[in-house]
Amino acid sequence: MRDVWNTAALARLDKAHLWHPFTPMADWCAEDHEPLVLVGGEGSWLEDSDGHRYLDGNSSIWTNIHGHGHPTISRAIHEQLGRVAHVSFLGSTNPPAITLAERLVSFFPKHTLTRVFLSDDGSTAVEAAMRMAIQFRQLQGEPDRTRFVAFQNAYHGDTLGAATLGGISAFHRPVAGHTFPITRISTPDELGAMTDVTAVVIEPLIQGAAGMRPWPKGLLRRLREKCDAAGVFLILDEVMTGFGRTGTLFACEQEDVVPDFLCLAKGLTGGTMPLAATLTNEHVFRAFLGPVEAGRTFFYGHSYSGNPLGCAAALANLDVFRDEHVLESLQPKISRLGNLLASLSSNPFVHQTRQCGFISGIEIRHPDGSPFPWHERTGAAVCLAARRHGLLTRPVLDTIVFMPPLCTTEEELAFGIGAISTAIDETLPRR
Ligand SMILES: Cc1ncc(COP(=O)(O)O)c(C=O)c1O
Repeated sequence: MRDVWNTAALARLDKAHLWHPFTPMADWCAEDHEPLVLVGGEGSWLEDSDGHRYLDGNSSIWTNIHGHGHPTISRAIHEQLGRVAHVSFLGSTNPPAITLAERLVSFFPKHTLTRVFLSDDGSTAVEAAMRMAIQFRQLQGEPDRTRFVAFQNAYHGDTLGAATLGGISAFHRPVAGHTFPITRISTPDELGAMTDVTAVVIEPLIQGAAGMRPWPKGLLRRLREKCDAAGVFLILDEVMTGFGRTGTLFACEQEDVVPDFLCLAKGLTGGTMPLAATLTNEHVFRAFLGPVEAGRTFFYGHSYSGNPLGCAAALANLDVFRDEHVLESLQPKISRLGNLLASLSSNPFVHQTRQCGFISGIEIRHPDGSPFPWHERTGAAVCLAARRHGLLTRPVLDTIVFMPPLCTTEEELAFGIGAISTAIDETLPRR
């Protein structure tokens, strides 16, 4: 039997007690705002408390991989729940975490990424990599080597360390002045002497929160070479790009690059449980070995590190990739998405479409190419209109993100892009 929800009561209680992330709460709590209450999902579709269905056009904030309620992942979580939901990873271990570490390192050439540090989300995956890089330099007798190099418009998460790397002023202004030394660049060619630098950090192949902006081909490879020449770590933040989004399991494969630290989260569990992994190599790991009194231990972690439910979900996520040949069947859909995006270019309000694998962004501007004033939130208005046509997504400013789960069919892709096209037509001429 179908659940019955009292949407109005839920909305009232939400407004009374919750505080949502990245949300102007005055608008959210306004009398006339009707929060979307999501209650179910199946495949690429979500359902709200009033029974409306929506294509999940941003994969539930870039997390979902094989669709909602995939039986393989659901079964793995249920089976693990029958054993134990959570046990400490401080002083004990568990089979799903062990197997997951082995599976993750098996995707990389032997003797490269061999160690897996588990945490909870994208920010902590990045935070752990940064903390390891800083402590590594201390342990090597280079305590002043604390600087990170990060890119303009980068986004690496919201814990204080990860936010330090961020280059989007609207997000990161409130913590300015509470951060550590950063050099910000827009291309690897700007890298000068890096004697005080511990690591360079980048979102490989495409910047997400900057508005789905792909990097030029070869940039990642060039960055790896520069880091090698300067003896500087390369941290790759694959929190968004990991797990097939760019067309390969990991984005770095496409430029034949192996980083010193690889940060994974979001799609790691197929979008079901919060779990993150920071992978690194034996060179880094060995620096942390020694007697307790030598103070080499990595004193960092979280209560839910190595959570067995999350690890079981992550293993099942990888099983689905293998058993359902997901990456192979994705390739024609990536081409189809490209054609659909191209069909939008005749719309005078579509300034640019950008694509990297199964990730895309549609930037809207005035027909003369000038941007809309940011505070008018035109992208948000288009997304709201798209919702009325059965597509759920969020903009990054005035770039409409379209990156549904990898299981989305070609017909569903056409439906989603159609909803965006109609939403632009409905919204913009009237403004
Ligand atoms: C590239 C990248 N890194 C890190 C993060 C932070 O991940 P989380 O929100 O899980 O902390 C995000 C989130 O969007 C991201 O896109």
